[in-house]
Parts: sequence; C-alpha cells; structure tokens
Amino acid sequence: MKFRTLFAAALIGAAGFAPAIAADEPQVVRQEMMKKNGADVGTLAKMVKGESPFDAAAALAALTEISEVAATFGEHFPEGSETGFETEAAPAIWTDRAGFDAKVAEFKEDADAAVAAAPADLDGLKAVFGPLTQNCGSCHETYRLKKS
Ligand code: HEC
Repeated sequence: MKFRTLFAAALIGAAGFAPAIAADEPQVVRQEMMKKNGADVGTLAKMVKGESPFDAAAALAALTEISEVAATFGEHFPEGSETGFETEAAPAIWTDRAGFDAKVAEFKEDADAAVAAAPADLDGLKAVFGPLTQNCGSCHETYRLKKS
C-alpha cells in the first residue's frame, strides 16, 4: 500500500516535471511565441472584419505583444534545434541565416510602427494591419515547413 502510494507520487512528480523541461527548449519557446502571434492576429482580424467592435486598448495590447515577439523571436533558433518537439522551422533558417534575420528585422520594424501608430479608430487599425500581417506569410513561405 505504502509502496503504491509512493510509486503514484513519483509518477505524478515525473509527469509534472517533464513539461517544465520541455518548456525551456527553443523549439517549444518559439512555437509558443508564434501561437501568441496567431491569437493576437485573430483578435485584430475580428475587429478589421467587423466581427467584434474596435477596442483601442485591446488592439494596442495585441500589437504590443506582437512587437515583443518580433523583438526576440530570432534568438530561439540555436544550432541543434533544427528538429525535435514537432518543430516546423524550415532548414533555410540555418542555411540562410542572414535572410531569416532580415525577415525578423522587417517584422519587428512593422510591428514597432504599428505600436507607435497606436490606432485610435478602425481605419487606423486597418492601415497598420495589412503591412504587419503580410510579414506572416512572407516569412512562413521560406522559413516554415507548413506554408500559410
Ligand atoms: C521571421 C519569420 C516569421 C514571421 C515574420 C512570422 N512567423 Fe510564424 N512562424 C515562423 C516559424 C519559423 C515558425 C515555426 C516555428 C517552429 O515550429 O519551431 C512559425 C510558426 C507559426 C505558427 C505555428 C505555431 C505552432 O507551433 O503552433 C503560427 C500560428 C504562426 N507562426 C503565426 C504567425 C503570425 C500570425 C505571424 C504574423 C503576425 C507570424 N507567424 C510571423 C516564422 C515567422
């Protein structure tokens, strides 16, 4: 009885610990960052399409989070993280690092410009949404295995 309890506790402990280790892996960190991008663009797209009312504070929060992702995203592609943890990063990131870095820099520039613009109405948001989101597909086309 006592052994079984201990064994169960050890299992729970291991299960609780494993994700904590994986969460530090660059493949996992960068995928989480991109998931945030996806959620933020979703929030903004709903406003742009008129599916949710324009909300200046929510729009700025989403744009700010995107610019924060853009600021450090490029740091999470060290040698040795080309595969594993279901990464969709394309080999081109490592064979053409300069090209990839340039894409990240453009993305950051457009995200920073969008934050600086701090859209006060829907037209203002539409003006920055297009240029900002063209970065997504443009980078994915070459640097992500799944194109979208
Ligand atoms: C500079 C290149 C670059 C830009 C710009 C970029 N992405 Fe990505 N994105 C990637 C790469 C590389 C991956 C694959 C990461 C991995 O799996 O390790 C990815 C993956 C994703 C994923 C899948 C995440 C997951 O694993 O579930 C989503 C969603 C995503 N990007 C959304 C966006 C959106 C939305 C934008 C624009 C706001 C954007 N991305 C801009 C490079 C980029």
